Amino acid sequence: MSEFTLDDLMFKPGLMKGQRILITGGGTGLGKVMAEACALLGADVIIWGRRGAVIDATAKELSEHAAKFGGGVVTGQACDIRVPEAIHDTMDEVWAGGAPTGLVNNAAGNFISRTEDLSPRGFDAIANIVFRGSFNVTLDAGKRWLAEGKHASVVSILTTWVWHGGPFTVPSAMSKAGLNVMTMSLAVEWGDRGIRFNAIAPGPFPTEGAWARLSPGQTTEGAGKADPEIPLNRVGEMRELANLAVYLLDPGSAYVNGQTIAIDGGGYLGGRGRADLASWTDEQWEQARNAIKGANEKDRAQRTV
Ligand code: HXC
Ligand code: NAP
Repeated sequence: MSEFTLDDLMFKPGLMKGQRILITGGGTGLGKVMAEACALLGADVIIWGRRGAVIDATAKELSEHAAKFGGGVVTGQACDIRVPEAIHDTMDEVWAGGAPTGLVNNAAGNFISRTEDLSPRGFDAIANIVFRGSFNVTLDAGKRWLAEGKHASVVSILTTWVWHGGPFTVPSAMSKAGLNVMTMSLAVEWGDRGIRFNAIAPGPFPTEGAWARLSPGQTTEGAGKADPEIPLNRVGEMRELANLAVYLLDPGSAYVNGQTIAIDGGGYLGGRGRADLASWTDEQWEQARNAIKGANEKDRAQRTV
């Protein structure tokens, strides 16, 4: 279901006309709402994901919705960012339609686990998407922008764990921390050639994908509005995240480079992380693992790449 009308966004209609934004993991969750906001404001958007039917359905839904507001077109492409050759081939197709003006590194994998229960393959399952995959997408697009002398804005979706650690989600926290350093490093290395890098560190924004793997057994509806661990006492609203992403992608923020901006109601300043998990029993961890396995199997059955 679409989330917004133009009234939900802070920006003037047509702000992003002529822009072309590539969003990894844009078929669901936060990637989808950022795609929607960019398209409503006039950008053409390309979304990537492994489940072809999910990507196609989202592209169709968002294109139809954006058309009502004179917005841009959303196109879906099945691509597994763990595979550098797939990135390269799919990027060829993106470039054939014109160089993107922006890239959002949003695709991710994650699950809660006691670190002592992880195997090397469990670590790789996350690091290969978040750390290696996002770097390889950035590298493939970056080489093309540099060769053509094109300007672009890259926004990576991180977590506040990059500052205070992520107990029980160590592979994700480590991988996101790596992307935080990529953001600062390339902001300097490529900034003078017109490619700027920023990142967003969201607090809780209830999505099916995150909740199935980080709060197994709880639904996004059950996330509720109140959250006493956050100074503003609530979870984030999708339009709040979308507005920040549009700001960072648009040339209106051209002097912002190398920054990671938290959007979490001040939550990370309390620094509590997932303290609730420290007291879980073996039985609770077993139940969580089985629930996460169920969510993974359901998604895997839909993958077309
Ligand atoms: C321990 C686990 C595990 C669990 C899987 N593994 N689940 N280990 N606890 N709960 C281990 C397996 O045992 C296996 O290792 C290895 O991981 C690979 O498992 P597969 O099921 O084959 O993984 P794969 O099909 O590659 O799937 C990758 C995935 C999956 C990351 C596990 O969840 C996925 O594709 N997710 C994409 C969407 C997603 O995760 N969205 C949420 C993003 S939310 P062995 O050694 O046994 O073979 C997010 C929020 C952050 O990032 C911040 C919130 C505040
Ligand atoms: P989500 O809906 O599960 O989004 C993850 C997306 O990544 C999915 O569309 C998934 O699609 C895609 N993806 C995963 N592996 C991929 C691969 N190898 N190649 C291509 N696409 C892949 O979860 P979300 O909550 O919206 O998360 C989006 C981003 O926000 C992530 O970076 C996450 O870490 C970050 N974040 C979320 C929250 C939150 O509260 N929701 C908080 C902080 C940070 P396929 O499975 O079809 O490939």
